[in-house]
Amino acid sequence: MFASLPASFCVLLAKKDFVDELSRELALIGIPVLQKSDLLFFVSQNDFNSARRRPIWVQDFWPDCRILEFPSIAKAQQKLQTMAKRWAHASLHCHRRGELICEGLPRIKKKRLEPFLPRPDQSFGVFGLIDEKSLFYCLTPHSFIPFGYHEFVEDKKTPPSRAYLKLWEVFSIHRPHLARELAGKTVFDLGACPGGWSYVLSRIGAEVFAFDKAPLDERVTQLSNVHYRQESAFGLVPSSVPKPFAIFSDIICYPTRLFDLVEKWRAVGVEHFVCTIKFQKETDYETVEKFLAIPGSEIIQLYHNKHEATWILD
Ligand SMILES: C[S@@+](CC[C@H](N)C(=O)[O-])C[C@H]1O[C@@H](n2cnc3c(N)ncnc32)[C@H](O)[C@@H]1O
Repeated sequence: MFASLPASFCVLLAKKDFVDELSRELALIGIPVLQKSDLLFFVSQNDFNSARRRPIWVQDFWPDCRILEFPSIAKAQQKLQTMAKRWAHASLHCHRRGELICEGLPRIKKKRLEPFLPRPDQSFGVFGLIDEKSLFYCLTPHSFIPFGYHEFVEDKKTPPSRAYLKLWEVFSIHRPHLARELAGKTVFDLGACPGGWSYVLSRIGAEVFAFDKAPLDERVTQLSNVHYRQESAFGLVPSSVPKPFAIFSDIICYPTRLFDLVEKWRAVGVEHFVCTIKFQKETDYETVEKFLAIPGSEIIQLYHNKHEATWILD
């Protein structure tokens, strides 16, 4: 089944429930799929590298994969141990056999993450069985948490919505430096209700101006550095409000409307943004491209994103 894989290939782990979407996206950006199994897409490393952009419906990816033939479980363990200290098993085929290989190798500590702590120092490789006698492996998985499962020790008391986990993920995993830069700075939280993001921004010491048509939870309005205004984020006039250092938006709106909003604030010199692009049934790839055309920006798929992706300019 996997006979046609090139010497070096890349394996993409689709975001759960977005397998068909990823198939469509890969076709759109010109990355042919060589093999596919459940959530895993095998593509050539060259095609992945030369694509005009990275796909957004990918939770993790494993570049520069190779094939290893092995006569026995013990030999597979021996060989893997010479290449990396720890291994994560991506179950593909022969699940039990893969688990047996894993059982003989040092374990990756599966711990929920604490927010804002330095990255865990546990390098690892990923492998999956292709058949009884061969496996693929990657020594440089993109995510430093196996499979990009960014699960936190949650704060179930204060934040009024689970949306706060998206910002924890941005600040703890993807942009730790941004959290440090925001202390003492004025930031806008657009579409802030019920207040999960404002809560996180307040905790990192930012001066938060929260805008929403709906009211904030009072646990958040009570915070001394959160200033709430009950109004539409789209009606804000830059000249009549303090200029924010950064804008955060989790507004439910069409991607095109969000893009116009971002352009309005970029035009007056705002340089830092973290915005959720929320899609309707169809992914609006035209607007995705427009966001990515903004120099220095990136779209990432958060573990806690739903039918959405996160655009960051920092
Ligand atoms: C997903 S919720 C935001 C959750 C929030 N980030 C949190 O952490 O609790 C989306 C919000 O966008 C708000 N919204 C929709 N249209 C808006 C507008 N024109 N101006 C401001 N907020 C808007 C909705 O009222 C809703 O509260």
